[in-house]
Amino acid sequence: MNPIRATLLGASLLACLSCTGKKEDERQAKAPAAASDTAELEDWPALRSSFAKDPAIEARVAEILATMTLEQKIGQMVQPEIKSITPDEVRRYYIGSVLNGGGSWPGMNKRATVQDWLKLADQYHAASMATDAEVPIPVIWGTDAVHGHSNVYGATIFPHNIGLGAAHDAELIERIAEATGQSTRATGIGWTFAPTVAVAQDARWGRTYESYSSQSALVREYAVAYVKGMQGALKEDGNVVATAKHFIGDGATDGGKDQGNALVSQSEMINVHGQGYYGAIEAGVQTVMASFNSWNDVAAGKDYGKMHGPGELLDVALKQKMGFDGFVVSDWNGIGQVTGCTDDSCPRAINAGIDMVMVPDAWKAFIANTVRQVKAGEIPQTRIDDAVTRILRVKLRAGLFDHKPSDSRYAGKPESLVHRDLARRAVRESLVLLKNDDGALPLKRGQRVLVVGKSADDLSNQTGGWSLTWQGTDNTNADFPNADSVLAGLREALGEGNVIHRDSAEGVDPATFDVAVAVFGETPYAETNGDIVPSDTMAHSRRHPEDLAVLKAAAAAGKPVVTVFLSGRALYANDLLNLSSAFVAGWLPGTEGKGVADVLVAGEDGAPAHDFRGTLTFPWPAIACPAKDSAPQFAVGQGLRYGDAKPVGKLPEDDRTACGEASTLPIFNLSDIAPFALHVAAGGAEQAVGADLNQVLRWPQAGPAVQVATVQVNTQQDAKEVTWLAPARFFSRNPSKNNLAALATARGAVQFDVLVKQAPTSPVRFGVDCGAGCGARVDLTTRFTGQAVGGKQTVKVPLACLGTLGADLTGIDVPFAISADAPFAAAFTNIKVVAGAADDADAVKCAQ
Ligand code: BGC
Ligand code: BGC
Repeated sequence: MNPIRATLLGASLLACLSCTGKKEDERQAKAPAAASDTAELEDWPALRSSFAKDPAIEARVAEILATMTLEQKIGQMVQPEIKSITPDEVRRYYIGSVLNGGGSWPGMNKRATVQDWLKLADQYHAASMATDAEVPIPVIWGTDAVHGHSNVYGATIFPHNIGLGAAHDAELIERIAEATGQSTRATGIGWTFAPTVAVAQDARWGRTYESYSSQSALVREYAVAYVKGMQGALKEDGNVVATAKHFIGDGATDGGKDQGNALVSQSEMINVHGQGYYGAIEAGVQTVMASFNSWNDVAAGKDYGKMHGPGELLDVALKQKMGFDGFVVSDWNGIGQVTGCTDDSCPRAINAGIDMVMVPDAWKAFIANTVRQVKAGEIPQTRIDDAVTRILRVKLRAGLFDHKPSDSRYAGKPESLVHRDLARRAVRESLVLLKNDDGALPLKRGQRVLVVGKSADDLSNQTGGWSLTWQGTDNTNADFPNADSVLAGLREALGEGNVIHRDSAEGVDPATFDVAVAVFGETPYAETNGDIVPSDTMAHSRRHPEDLAVLKAAAAAGKPVVTVFLSGRALYANDLLNLSSAFVAGWLPGTEGKGVADVLVAGEDGAPAHDFRGTLTFPWPAIACPAKDSAPQFAVGQGLRYGDAKPVGKLPEDDRTACGEASTLPIFNLSDIAPFALHVAAGGAEQAVGADLNQVLRWPQAGPAVQVATVQVNTQQDAKEVTWLAPARFFSRNPSKNNLAALATARGAVQFDVLVKQAPTSPVRFGVDCGAGCGARVDLTTRFTGQAVGGKQTVKVPLACLGTLGADLTGIDVPFAISADAPFAAAFTNIKVVAGAADDADAVKCAQ
């Protein structure tokens, strides 16, 4: 079946299709009469925003623009991160916006109070109004309030979008957006980078949970609800500017790779991945964020490259054809990924239609470069005027000129952060019952219940990524003051005395309980770190064997077991399903764990107090390796109610431990590949190599130990030539670590191209690190001497070997490091981890 049609058809229809296996024409015959929303589009549609152009605002924009200098205009277009800019710098540089990134708080205090946030917001605002400009322009602060005001201590955290999609309740989403708006305004912030309108197609993507559904019609509907709830008419105290992100095709990338390449046709991009934008724009969304991904329409022979670059999409499709009249913000250093650009310089992105540039750190250089580029005619003055016009329009529409942050009636009120009943309702509605074969659910009052599993009393696992910290890691229960775990809900509903809580059922006398509830699943991740690499399987038990062990022990007690599975996506889990009498997909429910017990535990009369109402908005896999066109175990639209007599029975188990596809984890090629970054280190200090291709880094300044220049090994400027002047280390790091276990299983090796310029006279070592005091080293001196000098070679160091030498492959933060002393000089590029490379004849032998 044509994937576009598949996504356009209703979820319930699809659910039925995948179980009947009828021929394509019969299926299509059943399609509902095409509504205007679902008719197949030939081109980007013309849309009508709920914000009609207001002549008074347009006139005011033109008036203000006419007073502005070039420096003031460029300042308006810049968005630094709060760690890198003071209020006084906002004043001096006429800055238009600031953001706090994931896990960035005022004073870098995770427990900053609502007053701390508000005070800083007022300071930035006051500074922006104290410039020497003829008309001072208020700064707008943007934040990732993506499931509630999720960076803020004490704020209610709602289920991630995947759970809200399962709830199938647009009104609920509107209420949540409205509540999140109030929480955001409580801290003085006026703009949130939500909703994500990705239509995620491959659950290996680490951002799948930010997507409401793999079905574009649902994403469109919920985008409308979210924007309405958050922005309202931008007239109320709780209204906040929303962002539709990430434009376009973030959910379409090949293999679900974050920031990867969408290999889809124009028709699929328009009809599937565009739908969320159509809804959001019609609902009046004022900003759109560009995406990190690339798009290559292979069939049409059209490679658009990185989405921050093509004017055909940002300008022509989004602004001209769809009629979007708000502004486009770039993503975090996203301009630096455009060919020919760096983090602090990118005429191409501005010319393509980026209006505001998220340039977290290098903003001063960006301003200087951009001013110069306008003066040199590389960026037309008219483009700058258009960008500033759009920014001013949004600021006037949002009423920012009329109020300071603390003017909102929600401002500074801790209670405005808290929306517990609404979040609890959302949790109840989002749960999807996939199996209830023996009537183990609902739990009855008076039953003695054993609760096991690592997530039963773990708010960090409940909330997932983008919760207080960027990855959602490094949080404890104490970091969530207004919250309840699933266990707390079960205790309340069943009575303290009826609940036994243990890590595992091992050693617990089966006579002491009637039923076991196991709560476990994924641990927090965000963005690239959450990707499942192509060689890995979709089997939850491969990544989290501890959960299978807990379930086996619980099942061995001979009592019924209810599994509550907390995850950011649908994962292969037939082994877990077979060990469970009942299985509930709970997604990432957020801070109101009591919503789970509301549905699991019967009322006083023994009848269910709340029925299940969630259904899948993503297919649930039947096999461990993703395969296009394979029938799902549970189709989109599936989800049981109490009383449904549809036993799942014993499912076939697929115990493949790798998916065999050739796979790579790229680290560096031409430039750093996020989240990796090259560094040099010597004498206990370190320095990022950075993206500047023209500058030769000699570091440290006082007495350099190392020199790094950009040279060619395979293609122009693709490599870093490192010259050792003293003992030093050249390495790449992902601070959030990678789990390379699957790549090791797939016989992976760390691989890089190297051209030795000057032979070493002392040992050169390759190494990997896995946190403090953890790592492995391999001596490569012989590979870099004699014949090797002057010629290019590819070095492959097997992961298995590094594991044998002591590296913990499940948590590698430095996958590539070269330690040496002077003299030694070599150029390095194309650094990656490659599945299968350990088997190559030229791979380094472990003894070496
Ligand atoms: C993410 C965006 C986010 C931004 C600011 C980026 O890495 O892709 O979704 O809004 O950072 O935190
Ligand atoms: C920030 C995030 C951002 C990410 C991009 C992090 O350091 O906190 O907001 O999305 O970097 O890589």
